[in-house]
Amino acid sequence: MTVNGGLRSTQWFGATGRTGMAHRSWMRGQGFTPEVFDGRPVIGIASTWSELAPCNVHLHRVAESVKRGVWQAGGFPLEFPAMALGETLLRPTAMLYRNLLAMEAEELMRANPLDGVVLLSGCDKTTPGLLMAAASVDLPAVMITGGPMLNGKYQGTDVGSGTAVWRFEEDLVAGRMTQEECVFAEGCMARSNGHCMTMGTASTMASMAEALGMQLPYSATWPAVDARRYETAQRAGQVIVGLVRQELRPSAIMTRAAFENAIRVNAAIGGSTNAVIHLLAIAGRLGVPLSLDDFDALARDVPTLVNLQPNGQYLMEDFCYAGGLPAVMRELAEAGLLNTDAVTVTGSGIGANVADAPCWNREVIKTAGDPFQPAGTGTAVLRGNLAPGGAVIKQSASSPHLLKHRGRALVFDSPADYYAVSNDPELDVDEDTVLVIRYCGPRGYPGMPEVSNVALPRKLLLRGVRDMVRICDGRMSGTAYGTVVLHVAPEAAAGGPLALVRDGDWIILDVPARTLTLEVSDGELAERRAGWRPPAPHASRGWTRLYCERVTQADSGADLDFLVGASGHEVPRESH
Ligand code: FES
Repeated sequence: MTVNGGLRSTQWFGATGRTGMAHRSWMRGQGFTPEVFDGRPVIGIASTWSELAPCNVHLHRVAESVKRGVWQAGGFPLEFPAMALGETLLRPTAMLYRNLLAMEAEELMRANPLDGVVLLSGCDKTTPGLLMAAASVDLPAVMITGGPMLNGKYQGTDVGSGTAVWRFEEDLVAGRMTQEECVFAEGCMARSNGHCMTMGTASTMASMAEALGMQLPYSATWPAVDARRYETAQRAGQVIVGLVRQELRPSAIMTRAAFENAIRVNAAIGGSTNAVIHLLAIAGRLGVPLSLDDFDALARDVPTLVNLQPNGQYLMEDFCYAGGLPAVMRELAEAGLLNTDAVTVTGSGIGANVADAPCWNREVIKTAGDPFQPAGTGTAVLRGNLAPGGAVIKQSASSPHLLKHRGRALVFDSPADYYAVSNDPELDVDEDTVLVIRYCGPRGYPGMPEVSNVALPRKLLLRGVRDMVRICDGRMSGTAYGTVVLHVAPEAAAGGPLALVRDGDWIILDVPARTLTLEVSDGELAERRAGWRPPAPHASRGWTRLYCERVTQADSGADLDFLVGASGHEVPRESH
């Protein structure tokens, strides 16, 4: 990244007088020799390491491998922390802080003497947060995600992190599992470093980063503890130095063609619905035109090729040994479903990267001619008077018999309200009921948490019912399953029609027709609207207040409105 013929970092380390002395001297306090200021590319390594984000806790080690590569290629690596968002601990939801990570990382990349960055992420929100930041600064960047955990093992069978939690909970409620067995199973699920090893949001977003061209081939699938992840990290350190010299920036890689590839890959891997919201947000930072409807239109021709939980049987470790994401992208390329010229961090088109990718296990990675699930079973976008801005449903995680359904609404203003009565044997509910869980959107909860797939009422579980239609303005974990309509926009807290639904109203879900309809007349809805009042604000100060005042709706990626777009990497003024 040149500035007046020199590297950007030269503005700091090449400066003369008091200013340059201050920039260099304190760095030398870390024990660096003066040669590191000889004009070589300075590479920031943005690490979302934290013991509070268990999926990312090994990123320090990954950073060491990246540093080796940067030194090898003649660069000067400097690791710095970026906000770590752990999905399992943060309340009210990690998603509330994705945009804060993106804002923090953007400012750190811009304000420091960096010529390029390597982005180390893992848990769900850290990957999109860092990609949003890199897109807005537009310094050359390579991502290295932390990789999935090894397969969970419980009682001789593989168990997927996240996905098994839902099943264990249902089994516990239904009496198929004891509390002691549950506690034992906890230790069997997450048994190594890494992020969830189902095709949940972390695996999905790692795959999206690779499909967008921002990760090296195979980066998404090497297990966190596999030596080849560390080899790839070292290679990424070499690559970023080259990208700086070539001035190849994220804006030249994450183009419309790359986003089309990512959307199709998401369909092929049976990826998380969360990819929709994150890809919209990343595209918004780059000014790439992308709409909710693109996800439906582009995915319709794409069969699901990967047989992974939560839709299928296997886990990320199996996916890795079967050939990983390159094997999937090769199938798509040969079926004419990949923009092969889209340039990647390798400097080559994505088609060239995957042209010879082998597949070693056709049980795990199927062919386009004999897919795991046929085309048209991916994420569908619904519209109607209940979701004028759109909503999504993951068809492959839904029960086929519920994809066309008419039922009476049973409405709750929060998941807590629902869970307060969900075990009541007298609850007025049957398998045809449509559970409406609202005020879970970006403003409503706040932060749009993964609460939409509420567990079924106990009386239905005891009768053997395993699925029912649920509708919510929140999100669903990528590890979860069920016939759940998500991301309803506008959300209830923003005055969307979801806020006007009452117990007993008829709702029609028609996924083949892509509609979601509330059978209430316009006149009646207008009357109800006149009596509706927005909920009280969640906070009077701080990040939550700023977030709630400026967050956009799900169909726009739930970014803050003033963060959409880019500010570039210029910093006009000296600090001393
Ligand atoms: Fe971090 Fe699942 S909890 S990836």
